[in-house]
Amino acid sequence: MTYRIGYIVGSLSSVSINRRLAGALVALAPDTLEFFEIGIADLPLYNRDLDGDYPEVARRFKGDVESADGLLIVSPEYNRSMPGALKNAIDWGSRPWGTNSFARKPTALLGTSSGSIGTAVMQAAMRNVLSFLNVPQLSSPEAYITFKPDEWDGDMVTNESTRAFLTHYMAEFAAFVERVLAHAPGHIGDEG
Ligand SMILES: Cc1cc2nc3c(=O)[nH]c(=O)nc-3n(C[C@H](O)[C@H](O)[C@H](O)COP(=O)(O)O)c2cc1C
Repeated sequence: MTYRIGYIVGSLSSVSINRRLAGALVALAPDTLEFFEIGIADLPLYNRDLDGDYPEVARRFKGDVESADGLLIVSPEYNRSMPGALKNAIDWGSRPWGTNSFARKPTALLGTSSGSIGTAVMQAAMRNVLSFLNVPQLSSPEAYITFKPDEWDGDMVTNESTRAFLTHYMAEFAAFVERVLAHAPGHIGDEG
């Protein structure tokens, strides 16, 4: 069985270290997972006035989330929380009321920063949001990655122990996706 995972990078930067981490995670994942990116950069700011006539770009975003078997969110921490662009995307996906695209989607959340706590506070804030949206989340292992430039070559981490950890992380994520979908398959899409 193969699962399609949509990955979301919380940074819009062209030199994002979180995009590089996402590249490494995709490369280190088991063969049972295949990946496609769900872009967030083109979404306008969410405005509930548009709920009756969702913009095409937001419809596409919701469709991408709904078509995925699971989600991988790789994000920086901005001012001890999630970047505005990521929260904006989540707000679009959660609406119009009653069509929450994230419900029941097995999801892994992690990130990297140059700081020693490696996006821990962002992750705590995001888990609160994702819990409200009825998103089953991989809770163990947790991944707080401090980015050390000399341990990376392009989109691959060269530090052996970090690479082994990320490989283990993705194997655990694959098992989690399988477990969640075995017990609660599919998107129901009837939640606020
Ligand atoms: C607006 C802003 C706020 C930031 N706040 C934090 C923070 O709260 N914690 C942290 O560890 N790093 C923080 N940083 C530093 C980021 O971790 C660093 O810029 C990182 O490279 C961003 O990820 P990216 O390269 O994927 O965009 C902040 C950076 C910016 C631009």
